[in-house]
Amino acid sequence: MGASAPIPFASRRPPRDDDRTMRHAHRRIPVNAMSTRIAVIGAGVMGADHARILASEVAGAVLQVVCDQDAERAEAVAEATGAVHAATDAAATVIREDVDAVLIASPDKTHAALTIAAIERGKPVLCEKPLAPTSAEAWPVIEAEVRAGRRLVQVGFMRRFDPPYRDMRAAVEAGALGRPMLMHNVHRNVETPFAWFTADMAITNSAPHEFDIARFVLGSEFRAMSAFKPQRDGERIPPVFMVLETEAGQLVNVEINNNAAYGYDVRGELVFEKGSVLLNAAAPTRTYADFKSYEPYAPDWRDRFAEAYRRQAMAWLRSIETGRPSDIAANAWDGFCATFVAEAGVAALAGGGRVPITYPAKPALYGPA
Ligand SMILES: NC(=O)c1ccc[n+]([C@@H]2O[C@H](COP(=O)([O-])OP(=O)(O)OC[C@H]3O[C@@H](n4cnc5c(N)ncnc54)[C@H](O)[C@@H]3O)[C@@H](O)[C@H]2O)c1
Repeated sequence: MGASAPIPFASRRPPRDDDRTMRHAHRRIPVNAMSTRIAVIGAGVMGADHARILASEVAGAVLQVVCDQDAERAEAVAEATGAVHAATDAAATVIREDVDAVLIASPDKTHAALTIAAIERGKPVLCEKPLAPTSAEAWPVIEAEVRAGRRLVQVGFMRRFDPPYRDMRAAVEAGALGRPMLMHNVHRNVETPFAWFTADMAITNSAPHEFDIARFVLGSEFRAMSAFKPQRDGERIPPVFMVLETEAGQLVNVEINNNAAYGYDVRGELVFEKGSVLLNAAAPTRTYADFKSYEPYAPDWRDRFAEAYRRQAMAWLRSIETGRPSDIAANAWDGFCATFVAEAGVAALAGGGRVPITYPAKPALYGPA
């Protein structure tokens, strides 16, 4: 960082005793005055991956605490990543003196309260999506940031950092292909993560990725949503199919299929007046054998979006160091919007009709209305 760069907020803190009392001697990043000490809350699938990325790929990040209500899990991830401490109490972890910033990867219902606790202590947060399960729970996060008078929250809509989606957005900005008219989205998982996963959760938990990336790529807001589901035999929930209309007159369709059986598969195509941009399949290889050719599919999202998670974490660290929020990342307002749109989807699926989407007034903290 050059001499003229803004002073990172972490560097204003004197080193503490905690910094010298590390549990794990094999940590990769030395603690120094420029480091940001991070707590990762939730050490499950996502938390473990975030912890790994922060510990091994992001200069300036110190993995200070790995917290999970399951002590064994917290300890195992702390051990694997060289974190300084393991802990089990999320609320206590957020307010620790030796924690500068918090990454929240515990279940959806815990996000809003932990995020607000961090905001109230002036700590930057990277909160996994969704910001909250309902807009009523997400709104107090907005209010807390407005009270704080600054944006401290980044929401984990990592597709904004995915190079193929960045190309799509660049094509919109370049304008050479004319007006974008249609965006097709497909989001398939192998199977629902637990038996009680519902079609509504396909909309509130999975589809927010599509709601956010479509707003980001198109640069326009949604004004209405319709949602449908086909018949499916057996216990498993069927796909959900949504059609969204934007204020700029575009159509966005989203297939969420949480029981697609064959692999994790995300597809997208943006159709312009003079061409189209298609996301290429992420598989790095194709195998030719036995009179067939095929590409592998990963069991989940971590491979497909590995680069996006890495870039997201780096952007978060840079935003903490500079005190300037990333202009790519989703902020709390974007997180609120994704949840608000999801509620229209749940209403549309229940009633089968076209549900108008009218957002509340956007606070000035998040830019022009
Ligand atoms: N951005 C993405 O691509 C993406 C992908 C999957 C999941 N997610 C989101 O990440 C979050 C975590 O998902 P996951 O798949 O890792 O779930 P997971 O079940 O694998 O992990 C969650 C962990 O949180 C712990 N936990 C639960 N309550 C806690 C509490 N109060 N305090 C501390 N720890 C607690 C659990 O013990 C568990 O280890 C969810 O909000 C999910 O929506 C995001």
